[in-house]
Amino acid sequence: MTRVFSGIKPTGHLTLGNYLGAMRRWAEVDQHRADALFCVVDLHALTVDHDPARVRRLSRQAATLLLASGLDPELCTLFVQSHVDEHTRLSYLLECVAADGEMRRMIQYKEKAAREQGRGGSVRLSLLTYPVLMAADILVYGTDEVPVGDDQRQHVELARDLAVRFNQRYGHTFVVPRATRPEVAARVMNLQDPTSKMGKSDDMGPGIVYLLDEPDVVRKKIMRAVTDSGSDVVHDREARPGVTNLLEILAACEGADPEKLSGAYTSYGALKKDTAEAVVELLRPVQERHKELCADAAHVEKVLRAGAGRAREMAKPMVDAAYRAIGLLPA
Ligand code: TRP
Repeated sequence: MTRVFSGIKPTGHLTLGNYLGAMRRWAEVDQHRADALFCVVDLHALTVDHDPARVRRLSRQAATLLLASGLDPELCTLFVQSHVDEHTRLSYLLECVAADGEMRRMIQYKEKAAREQGRGGSVRLSLLTYPVLMAADILVYGTDEVPVGDDQRQHVELARDLAVRFNQRYGHTFVVPRATRPEVAARVMNLQDPTSKMGKSDDMGPGIVYLLDEPDVVRKKIMRAVTDSGSDVVHDREARPGVTNLLEILAACEGADPEKLSGAYTSYGALKKDTAEAVVELLRPVQERHKELCADAAHVEKVLRAGAGRAREMAKPMVDAAYRAIGLLPA
């Protein structure tokens, strides 16, 4: 069976973008068709300035929201990265295969490092080595497919390169993974800046709908979304990014085609209103389930513990094999 791995970083509250772009598909499709692992990658949240209490809270919340959005621990393996030591053990070996220059060329590193330095802060070494840990996340499970957004494709490419290089140097050990993109990729953009992604780390932006936003907050954010000059409703990412984003969101909520939907609207107001209601309805069951799960924290903990146990069983033989291949004496 195809093995799928993906991760979500607890650096901010999860958004409609995370849900429509990734989580919903994990629950509706991937966990049914593949041997899937979904991971709250908490170690990755330590690569930039962080508050320990916040990371703890967001990690628990991300796991709870993944369950609330339909991941079923009977069908997939849901766990927290730091609970499975094999990730960091393998990461070190991969650091011995990766080159310094390769790391410095990573686009996300360059952007984030520039941002940190711009703020007068220092850049953590772990920000540089982060893609190696991500490669370990993937390779340690013999992963075939990694469903990720475009911003992560370069990192998956690196994981492929490291797998191939390790196998060539030390003998066949790793499966060479590939990044996959859902056929109907819902790319949700920021409501206030529809040319940039609705990312979770952009703090309290009025352009971001969070999965736990109250219905009235959702409505307000969508009604205030920036639209484009002109007043007809057309689907055109380049010329009409604002309206197109609303059409994409509405279409994703309703399983419809955004082009076709555009024909049904003659005003921005009506489109916004329908989009707002569709998002409220989309989030309602997730929020209800989240509330129930929050009232049963012991259950969530049990799921995560069992998930980590299963993940460890899969990961351990792979890391042991890599240790032997690279020249370390068996313990
Ligand atoms: N780097 C990913 C992100 O920022 C999160 C991540 C970490 C990940 N490890 C992974 C995604 C492994 C897929 C597979 O979104």
